[in-house]
Amino acid sequence: MGKKEKIRRGYDELAETYAAKRSGSRREMVILDHFLDSLSEPTRILDAGCGQGTPVLRRLCERTTAVGLDFSREQLRLAAETVSPALLVQGDMTMLPFRDGVFEAVTAYRSVIHIPLTDHQTVLDEFARVLSPGGRVLLSESPMEFERTNTDWLDTDVKMTWSMAGAETTRKQLQNAGFRITAEWDAPEMGGEDDPKPPFFPARLDA
Ligand SMILES: C[S@@+](CC[C@H](N)C(=O)[O-])C[C@H]1O[C@@H](n2cnc3c(N)ncnc32)[C@H](O)[C@@H]1O
Repeated sequence: MGKKEKIRRGYDELAETYAAKRSGSRREMVILDHFLDSLSEPTRILDAGCGQGTPVLRRLCERTTAVGLDFSREQLRLAAETVSPALLVQGDMTMLPFRDGVFEAVTAYRSVIHIPLTDHQTVLDEFARVLSPGGRVLLSESPMEFERTNTDWLDTDVKMTWSMAGAETTRKQLQNAGFRITAEWDAPEMGGEDDPKPPFFPARLDA
């Protein structure tokens, strides 16, 4: 079984536990609102790696026409119970099942960090492809490159892997994909005490 398939199955298996434990840090949601405030309306927005839908997709649904995409069927099943997006789609961020230029914005909270490092550029290229000219992206990353595996994540016996490209590589890859980074926000209260704090990159596609 490939790395990606293991992650997908892992998210299927721990869907209920992740849903129970996922709480939004206040700062994470302030960043999302700030990003949404900067968009012109009406906005069609893709939440890539939406998971079980709270708190991010839920907030998007309150303020935009939102489409949630995830490759885990169980995460999507839970999302369908709790949020009401325009559409929920099972698909892979490395090959988005959408036509070119159909969204005005893409968000990716805590999801690109599960993509194998060799595929990060592909994902950012896919985000650029499905955005209209001037389209916007907001994604969270890690400050530094590192890969990590936890064999008992959230005490579920499920093995989970993270592949973080780090801020420097992500900046370069966003630029390669045609984005101009407009700011860099952090959420200092996120993660454990010793965990590196994730930066959030808002960026704009050249019009
Ligand atoms: C840590 S969860 C984050 C979920 C949600 N964005 C949030 O903020 O709670 C990561 C999600 O990304 C999804 N994911 C990981 N790799 C993916 C891929 N290649 N394509 C689509 N979804 C993916 C997982 O299934 C999981 O639901």
